[in-house]
Amino acid sequence: MLSWDEFDSEDTTTAPASAAAEKAAPTQADKALDQQAAAKAEQARSVDDADSAAIARAKAALDNLDVEEGLEELEGSAARVNVDAKQMINCRADLNQLVPFKYEWAWQKYLDGCSNHWMPQEVNMTADIALWKSNDGLTEDERRIVKRNLGFFSTADSLVANNLVLAVYRLITNPECRQYILRQAFEEAIHTHAYQYCIESLGMDEGEIFNMYHEIPSVAKKAAWGLKYTRSISDPTFNTGTVETDKELLRNLIAYYCVLEGVFFYCGFTQILSMGRRNKLTGVAEQFQYILRDESMHLNFGIDVINQIKIENPHLWDAAMKDEATQMILQGTQLEIEYARDTMPRGVLGMNAAMMEDYLKFIANRRLTQIGLKEEYPGTSNPFPWMSEIMDLKKEKNFFETRVIEYQTGGALSWD
Ligand SMILES: [Fe+2]
Ligand SMILES: [Fe+2]
Repeated sequence: MLSWDEFDSEDTTTAPASAAAEKAAPTQADKALDQQAAAKAEQARSVDDADSAAIARAKAALDNLDVEEGLEELEGSAARVNVDAKQMINCRADLNQLVPFKYEWAWQKYLDGCSNHWMPQEVNMTADIALWKSNDGLTEDERRIVKRNLGFFSTADSLVANNLVLAVYRLITNPECRQYILRQAFEEAIHTHAYQYCIESLGMDEGEIFNMYHEIPSVAKKAAWGLKYTRSISDPTFNTGTVETDKELLRNLIAYYCVLEGVFFYCGFTQILSMGRRNKLTGVAEQFQYILRDESMHLNFGIDVINQIKIENPHLWDAAMKDEATQMILQGTQLEIEYARDTMPRGVLGMNAAMMEDYLKFIANRRLTQIGLKEEYPGTSNPFPWMSEIMDLKKEKNFFETRVIEYQTGGALSWD
């Protein structure tokens, strides 16, 4: 691996003591070098006899390139960015200058997301395939849970990804947050890949699973609820900048981060992970475990973005918006309770719909307080404390004690 220390030590052995001071201002030699280089660059573009007609045309076209006009197309001004000019929404500073960071937390989440990198093919699915194909390995209730959840998640993660890429990315005007959103978008692609990998490994009817969001009411309602909040802001002509449009973006962030990723995933995650804890479908459960770890980071990022927008734009967070946000989280919780009842008509895997309802109310209280709203389900407690342990799990301490590739240490380039 390359080490910059080696380059530094070479520099110090040969440079004179006053090297640092001399480096500060360009010398005559530097200026002469710049001029020479510019002349050489110019020369590289001049048409010569050896050029084909196509190459000559390409070189000539560059003579007409107006650099000033081209750079005007960039978002924000071309001036050097001062950290105070950075804003979460409606920022006018150049969005192509990643540093200086204003939101260190966003960059840290990007780094943490990269450290947690995983791929679905790393998970061994052999035991799952044997169990799924055996006649007596799983009850009908357990099969129903697996199918419903793969049905919901296989399309839900696409909805989240589409919302990020086609709507949110453009409207969040901060480069370090955009960097995280790009990482998140790739993770959503990995999640959809993971569900597809499970569906294919188990030999399920793909048409049935991928169409549940049209055909099964408890799945369809959740998808439809999410889509409602992406419709207006994914219109390419939509822009923030007025109180109403800024609020519309805020609604979208609450719908997707607090409700879709923050409530709608929790019944399914709990059911599948409970299956893994009982040594059933441990491959599918391991995939869900990695996904849950990613999702809890997506959720925390979203909460931080929402709270930062509130800090920078306090006028948006008025009584009407607070009431709306509360209503959205309560509606989402209600839909997830309906989903719990539909997926668990009877007790299964040591849990039932009533316990799940308690858990979802506990989760809803958390989502409300995370964005500064008051709890709406006082006195609820967590019937599944093991879920928090799984979410806090570090990569090296795998819950199911299976192999995990360490991308952080295995990914260094070798130049030999
Ligand atoms: Fe996801
Ligand atoms: Fe996510």
